[in-house]
Amino acid sequence: MTSWTPASIPDLTGKAAIVTGANSGIGKPTALELARHGARVVVAARNADKGRAAVADILRAVPGAQVEYGHLDLADLDSVRRFAAGVGKLDLLVNNAGVGMVPRQETKDGFELQFGTNHLGHFALTGLLLPLLLAAPGARVVNVASDAHKMATLDFDDLGLERGYRKMSSYGRSKLANLLFTFELQRRAQRAGADLTSVATHPGMTGTNFFKAGILQPVVGLFLKSAAAGAVSSLYAATSPDLRGGEYIGPTLKRLTPSRTARSEEVAKRLWDLSTQLTGVRFDEIAYS
Ligand SMILES: NC(=O)c1ccc[n+]([C@@H]2O[C@H](COP(=O)([O-])OP(=O)(O)OC[C@H]3O[C@@H](n4cnc5c(N)ncnc54)[C@H](OP(=O)(O)O)[C@@H]3O)[C@@H](O)[C@H]2O)c1
Repeated sequence: MTSWTPASIPDLTGKAAIVTGANSGIGKPTALELARHGARVVVAARNADKGRAAVADILRAVPGAQVEYGHLDLADLDSVRRFAAGVGKLDLLVNNAGVGMVPRQETKDGFELQFGTNHLGHFALTGLLLPLLLAAPGARVVNVASDAHKMATLDFDDLGLERGYRKMSSYGRSKLANLLFTFELQRRAQRAGADLTSVATHPGMTGTNFFKAGILQPVVGLFLKSAAAGAVSSLYAATSPDLRGGEYIGPTLKRLTPSRTARSEEVAKRLWDLSTQLTGVRFDEIAYS
C-alpha cells in the first residue's frame, strides 16, 4: 500500500493534457485533478452538452482552471483525425474513454464497437498525436485498461466477432488490446530512444455509468467505489515520478501482472500491424522493421 493520493500530484503548470471520455465516470475526476494541479486540460468527449457540462463542473470546483471541451468520437476515425488536427501541444494523453458490454454494434468505419472504440480509436488518436508527444520532454500515454482482459483471447481470424459475439468477452478483448498496445508502444519508443512513457491501469470496480445499465447493478452497486477513487490509478500513472514505462498499475497502485497473452511480443506486434492497416495511422517516428 502506498501513501500516494491526488494531493501528491506535482505542479503541472505548463503541461498540456487530454483525457478522453472526461465528461463522466473516472475520466471526469481525472481531468479535474490534473487541472487542479495546473495542467491545461482538454475534456475530449463525443457529446458536446455533456462535455461542456463537465468543463463547467470542473471550473466550479477549480475556479480559474485551464480546461476546455474538445469534440472526439472514438467510434469515428474522421472525428479522431479532426480532433487530433486541432491539438497544438501535448505532454499527457489519458486514453480513458470506453464502451462496455453492449450488444453487437459497429463503429462508423465498420469495426466491432468495443474493439473499434476502446482500442482502434485510441490507437489512431495516439499515433496522430505522436509527433506532439515526442516534442514534449517526459511525455506520457496512460491507457485505462482492466483486469477483465484476463478472460479474453484475440482471434485474428474473427476480429469483427461475427461468430459468437458475447458482450463480456468482447469487452475483455478490447481491454487486452489496450494492454498489448501499451507495452508495444513502450518497446517501440524505447528502441527509438524516444522520451515517451507508456503505461496502463486497472481502476478496479468503480460506480460509473458503466455499471448503471447492467442487470447486476443493484447487487454490484454495493461494492463499487466512487469515480474519484477510481481515478487514482490514472492520476498516479499520469503524474508519479516513480513510474516506469510498460508498467500496469492497479487500484491500490501496486504493479499488476498482466495475462500471458497481454505480455506476448508476438501478439502485440501482430495487433500493431493490423491496427495500422485498419486505421491507416502509422507511427513512423518509432517504426522498426
Ligand atoms: N467502472 C469500472 O469498474 C471500470 C473497471 C475497469 C476499467 N474501467 C475502464 O475505465 C474507463 C472509464 O470508464 P468509466 O467506468 O468511467 O465508465 P463511463 O462512466 O461509462 O465513462 C466512459 C466514458 O467514455 C466515453 N465514450 C464512450 N464511447 C465513446 C466514443 N465513441 N467517443 C468518445 N468517448 C466515448 C463516454 O461518453 P458518453 O458519456 O458520451 O457515453 C464516457 O465519457 C473505461 O476505459 C473502462 O473500460 C472501468
